[in-house]
Amino acid sequence: MSKKVKEVIAKFSRERSNLIPILQKVQAVAGYLSPEAITEISRFLGITENDIYSVASFYAQFRFTRPGEHSVKVCLGTACHVRGGELILDSLERELNVKTGQVTGDYKFDLERVACVGCCALAPVVVIDQQDVFGKMTQGRVKEMLAQYKKGTGRKAK
Ligand code: FES
Repeated sequence: MSKKVKEVIAKFSRERSNLIPILQKVQAVAGYLSPEAITEISRFLGITENDIYSVASFYAQFRFTRPGEHSVKVCLGTACHVRGGELILDSLERELNVKTGQVTGDYKFDLERVACVGCCALAPVVVIDQQDVFGKMTQGRVKEMLAQYKKGTGRKAK
């Protein structure tokens, strides 16, 4: 576990009510809740690891696997679903060689499905790194969209 994570935990008092704030802070620093971080939090607060996992799993905000360098989120809200969001997700799974919820072997991308991201007029929509919105997506544009991130040149498409 990183020194940073230990420092984050040490800033809190050892009260059980600090569990959620500690989990949030650790995730903010490390990007996810690693098994080592959970063990350290368990020791620190005197709460079993199982209890921590059951509390944390209840909240969608917590992730237990290391995220990719770029997060790829495919919207499958109603408008995107109707306009072929599933096909876009299929293409991304094939292109990245992962299933939804997984991260690529080189930790470059992780892939998730999400509910409406609020720009239904652009359906179907893919959002990369929280801020890059790719609207009116087609299967044919998936490769080109990913290529910008593979090369590390960032977003250029609309
Ligand atoms: S349903 Fe996809 S943006 Fe609203």
